[in-house]
Amino acid sequence: MSDPFPHRHLLGIAALSASEIRFILDQAEQWIEFNRRTRKIDERLKGLTQFNVFFENSTRTLFSFEVAGKRLGATVANFHAAGSSVHKGETLIDTALTLDAMRPDVLVIRHSSTGAAAEVAAAVDCAVINAGDGTGEHPTQALLDALTIRRRLGRIEGLKVVICGDIRHSRVARSNLLSLPLLGAELRVAGPPALLPGWEALGGVPAFDDFDEAIEGADVVMMLRIQRERMEAALSASLDDFHARYGLTRERLARAAPDALVMHPGPMNRGVEIDGELADDRSRSAILDQVEIGVAVRMACLDILTHGRRTE
Ligand code: NCD
Repeated sequence: MSDPFPHRHLLGIAALSASEIRFILDQAEQWIEFNRRTRKIDERLKGLTQFNVFFENSTRTLFSFEVAGKRLGATVANFHAAGSSVHKGETLIDTALTLDAMRPDVLVIRHSSTGAAAEVAAAVDCAVINAGDGTGEHPTQALLDALTIRRRLGRIEGLKVVICGDIRHSRVARSNLLSLPLLGAELRVAGPPALLPGWEALGGVPAFDDFDEAIEGADVVMMLRIQRERMEAALSASLDDFHARYGLTRERLARAAPDALVMHPGPMNRGVEIDGELADDRSRSAILDQVEIGVAVRMACLDILTHGRRTE
């Protein structure tokens, strides 16, 4: 039988086929049910070591990778760049080699520089998972988004998905722009022209500066935060103006399909890209489903990437 996931690392959606993505989503389903039990003990990663190496802030991604590893029995250690020798001038690769010398089995990395996870993967012996590299990719976010859509709407194929906001600086958008069309969805992006990337980066996905036009008939509306930390001050116009033109309100959502699903990877800025009341309406908003499914998807990724080591 051929290997359903013949990769040592998970660096981006770009390296994956539709069947490899579906394999991860199918594997993750079991962990959703498992995580709803009171006792969550599975020991398949017992004796293995997972390092979470985060050079950028994170709430959901870091914590869910930690919980995911622990629920599978791994020894999980978190490396906090803030208190490390990174501030004494140590390079990313020297830091990665130092950590790798402590013999982890998996290294989960987040870094502000695009390509950082791939550079680390080329230098170390262990499996590497990209938890966000600059404006590059955030593959586990795209996987959890896909599984959230599949569970809430029953399918991905044929759905109209609109992603709105700061597309240009968003690794979440980039990974979803790769995964969702591969899984058969019809994508559109919307945002101020200054926050939209070029045609080539969009892979031919249509871009709109008029959100009201883009949202028409959409089955899924995915909202993104403005990535202030990745842009020149000049780019961030007034937030009130942004809300008026690109904020998701009930009135705007009425233009979408009748049961359109609202998504946001977090952290959200209530009253800017999304109305707080809408975000809290769980009949429309899948924001907390995304968080729940995120743990399951990360468990599946850790399980799949360490499978070879465990059976050696
Ligand atoms: C995103 C990220 O860090 O790329 N957050 C996340 O992982 N859920 C999005 C963001 O920072 O806006």
